[in-house]
Amino acid sequence: MPAELICFEPSCRATYPLNEVIYNCPKCGGLLEVKYPAPTQSAAELKKIFRERRMSNAKLDQSGVWRYRELFNFADDPETQVVTLREGNTPLLEAPRAAKYGGLDKVVFKHQGFNPTGSFKDNGMTCGATQARRLGMKRVACVSTGNTSASMAAYAAAGGLDPIIFIPHGNISYGKLAQALEYGAKTLQVEANFDQILALVRVLSEKMGIYLLNSINPFRIEGQKSIAIEMMDQRDWQVPDWIVLPGGNLGNVSALGKGLREMHEQGFIDKLPKLAVVQAEGAAPFYSYMKDQSAFVAVHHPETLATAIKIGDPVSWPKALLEITTSGGVVERVTEQEIADAKAVIGASGIGCEPASAATLAGIKKLTAAGVIAHDADVVAVLTGNVLKDPDYIYKYHTGQLDDPHGKRLTSSFGNAPIVVPNDPEKIAALLG
Ligand code: F0G
Repeated sequence: MPAELICFEPSCRATYPLNEVIYNCPKCGGLLEVKYPAPTQSAAELKKIFRERRMSNAKLDQSGVWRYRELFNFADDPETQVVTLREGNTPLLEAPRAAKYGGLDKVVFKHQGFNPTGSFKDNGMTCGATQARRLGMKRVACVSTGNTSASMAAYAAAGGLDPIIFIPHGNISYGKLAQALEYGAKTLQVEANFDQILALVRVLSEKMGIYLLNSINPFRIEGQKSIAIEMMDQRDWQVPDWIVLPGGNLGNVSALGKGLREMHEQGFIDKLPKLAVVQAEGAAPFYSYMKDQSAFVAVHHPETLATAIKIGDPVSWPKALLEITTSGGVVERVTEQEIADAKAVIGASGIGCEPASAATLAGIKKLTAAGVIAHDADVVAVLTGNVLKDPDYIYKYHTGQLDDPHGKRLTSSFGNAPIVVPNDPEKIAALLG
């Protein structure tokens, strides 16, 4: 039985060939996922192969995604089809200062900001761009809060595809917009929010035969599974108690959850970690849903300075629900102040990240205080984007000029403003003590 697309809805489970250009189930409208026959090698054999590939100079082996290709085996001719910028290979970093702040004895950050375009999107985009080439598509499109577009622009350029990106006008950081322009994407700034533009782009891509590379595309999810696979490989397949990550459109938690479940089923790991998703207070529909356990209600005007997760109607919430429930995980929400302070603490640990990523540490602080995460738990937090993605936010925070979306000035509890000094050694020496 070859790999196939399968409807995610338990009551449907209709299947489709991998080559169909669909993003939802044509029968019931449900989300789609990729299903594979089990790998022919055992988990023990594959673990050995994955390790050996770290010594290899072959391009597929050097990619921290394609090194694990047996676990998302959809490319029939990887040598010619794969578009890789040597993504993945992101470190696990210990951060004692951040751990203390978060109420933990120890915390480790899986820093996806070390990726070629500076975010976790590259793990998924290498697979999305590869599938676009497999299908013979010429043009690719996405709506983005910034990182998906930066990543798609780069992978499309590298893979000879034509990228068209749609972004909410005035609502993405310049670092991300600059990347899309530099990588040569046709860039359309739309006067609407992320959720509205996603609906627009879905209509346009169908009408114009453009391949959609948002995380509704199941091949993006397949690539992002590698964040969990690489994490386990780096930990010698020892499963942490918790994996904490920020939630926006909820593609990433869906991907990590699927990757972990498959690794568990195939005998790579002996248990599942609990997943904790953290949302910004002004864009937290999944948090509200999990708390109330009633119908899913979108937030029509999402608000947060963490623009990467400024999403009110996340498409992947049904998948995220499965992953949170299966793992016994939780969803938390945090304020703008909590994100800003946690971000400065991650920065002062010598690590740094963009605002959305810092929601993880802010969430950990709340969850340890509430006794949900034990102080001695083994916790990995996923930092999703690089510190340089949003320098404007950083400068404002450290100089006491950061206002929340309602114009309320945030406290720069860990502010570190630059000091203007005269060109005078005596005065500077006095200042430095
Ligand atoms: N962190 C960062 C830095 C992001 O860019 C995103 C999403 C998320 C977290 C949330 O991940 O959507 O999978 O739950 N950014 C998307 C974009 C939406 O367009 O770049 P998610």
